[in-house]
Amino acid sequence: MPARAIILDCDPGQDDAVAIFLALASPTELEVLAVTTVAGNVPLALTEANARRLVEAVGSTVPVHRGCGRPLLRELATAEHVHGATGLDGSGLPPPQRPLAPGHAVDAIVDLVTARPTGSVTLVATGPLTNIAMALVKEPALAERLEGIVLMGGAIGLGNVTPAAEFNFYVDPHAADIVFRSGVRITMFPLDVTHEVLVTPARLQRIDALGTPAARAVTGMLDFYRRHGRTGGAEEGPLHDPCTVAWLLAPELFSGRECHVAIETASPLGIGRSYVDWWQTGNRPANALVMNEADAAGFFDLVVERLARL
Ligand code: RIB
Ligand code: CA
Repeated sequence: MPARAIILDCDPGQDDAVAIFLALASPTELEVLAVTTVAGNVPLALTEANARRLVEAVGSTVPVHRGCGRPLLRELATAEHVHGATGLDGSGLPPPQRPLAPGHAVDAIVDLVTARPTGSVTLVATGPLTNIAMALVKEPALAERLEGIVLMGGAIGLGNVTPAAEFNFYVDPHAADIVFRSGVRITMFPLDVTHEVLVTPARLQRIDALGTPAARAVTGMLDFYRRHGRTGGAEEGPLHDPCTVAWLLAPELFSGRECHVAIETASPLGIGRSYVDWWQTGNRPANALVMNEADAAGFFDLVVERLARL
């Protein structure tokens, strides 16, 4: 099987960082065409620099593009309280040396997808969907050209930034609405499944035992993140974003259901809410495969095995 071509759109962010490492550690299965960055966890100036630091840390020359610095309509909301002032606290990684790739992320997405055969490029999105929505508006043909979009965002049940909304969809609900109305094949990893893959001290020790620079960076990042990223009592941060890449590598680790998903863009209390019609109560056609179960042990076995390759 030829490697699947992907573009990874992200807002690093420690959990985005593990998704980037997982993808770059898997060249047989995944050809990373580009990493595109968006404002989210921290402002764009930091997310783009963090993406470059991470790509360089593993010796990759994959181009990193700078994307949208704010949501389509709302003011930017960030999450330094979770990810630290740099957005990558705990990494210990030096500032980036290589420059950004020329061209805006939205143009890079459009150009990379339209330059390749239809159905050959998958978008992996682990931050607010601003770049993806802008690309779909700029080039409507993208909806037919894309193989699909694999994204971390939303919730079947409780939100994590409000009782109703998950952070990525809360930051840019209008972008999420455009994406879910686009007709592109979507595989969605909501909080309900990402909260099944928790960073625990024992799992951190497994990664640390690899003893490599990449493993040390991940251990430092995730130790910071688990103490700040939790949305429960225990200091066990959910490893949200790598679920997307892990599914591309080992789909058997996850299960879910085809559902209709709609995004709240009007209610002040519920803005960013993903209405996942899990019980098919409406007669609306499914527009996403929504995951709700993960094999956490198998997921972390994969993460450790791939990090060992970096
Ligand atoms: O709600 C979790 C999501 O928001 C993750 O992608 C995390 O990195 C933040 O972007
Ligand atoms: Ca993210």
